[in-house]
Amino acid sequence: MRPEAGRPVAVFDSGVGGLSVLRSLVAELPGEDFIYFGDRKNAPYGGRTHAEIKEIAEKNADMLFGLGAKALVVACNTATAAGIEQIREKYPDRPVIGIEPAVKPAFEAGCRRVAVMATPRTVGESRFASLLAELSAKFSALAFGLPCPGLSEAVERGEVRKDYFDSLFSGLEFDGLVLGCTHYPFASAEISAAAPGIPLFDGASGTARQTRRRLAEERLLREDGGRGRVEFIPDDGGAAERFWKEHI
Ligand code: DGL
Repeated sequence: MRPEAGRPVAVFDSGVGGLSVLRSLVAELPGEDFIYFGDRKNAPYGGRTHAEIKEIAEKNADMLFGLGAKALVVACNTATAAGIEQIREKYPDRPVIGIEPAVKPAFEAGCRRVAVMATPRTVGESRFASLLAELSAKFSALAFGLPCPGLSEAVERGEVRKDYFDSLFSGLEFDGLVLGCTHYPFASAEISAAAPGIPLFDGASGTARQTRRRLAEERLLREDGGRGRVEFIPDDGGAAERFWKEHI
């Protein structure tokens, strides 16, 4: 165990979405301290340009590593798709873990026609297109992107409605749904009501397992037997902390 192992793991998203990942991280790594940043000032990320997301992602990484984080989890599919390479280039000695849409678990569970719900920005990214094409070829199945404009904002406002999904899914055929934005697990009841019987997949637990692997590889797992804490960087109105206390 390296001396830096006692430092926290930082996690960021555009708002409350990354809390769906933080929940899995705390379950997988109960001995770690986490600091969470919900970047509401720059939200929503999903309608921004590639260049804007790269810049925002790098700024967040600078701020969180500046606070002494030993590792960074980008708990946002949009920021991972557009900005993670840049963060890794800037911080080659730190573990930087991103979240990818859970297409592989969906194919492995036997789905053959998978709709990958994500923000418009994520769906427009070449990293997203390559992942879907590569896995579709490997499994001889089909994964296609389904942009969901406005959905992360509706989750933030607590105003998700089933009608949104009724029109989104209308005329589409699929046997599996991937929640390719970390906000969407908080809309799973409404999604399932509009697509009854269709299994949902998200990348939170895979990201938590990958975080454990990377910390272990770097000898950065905290192994003093203590119980970890979660701290929130103040956002406007303390929204992430309130959501965590009320919903998680
Ligand atoms: N939660 C983010 C994601 O996973 C971004 C949502 C947004 O700000 O549009 O893509």
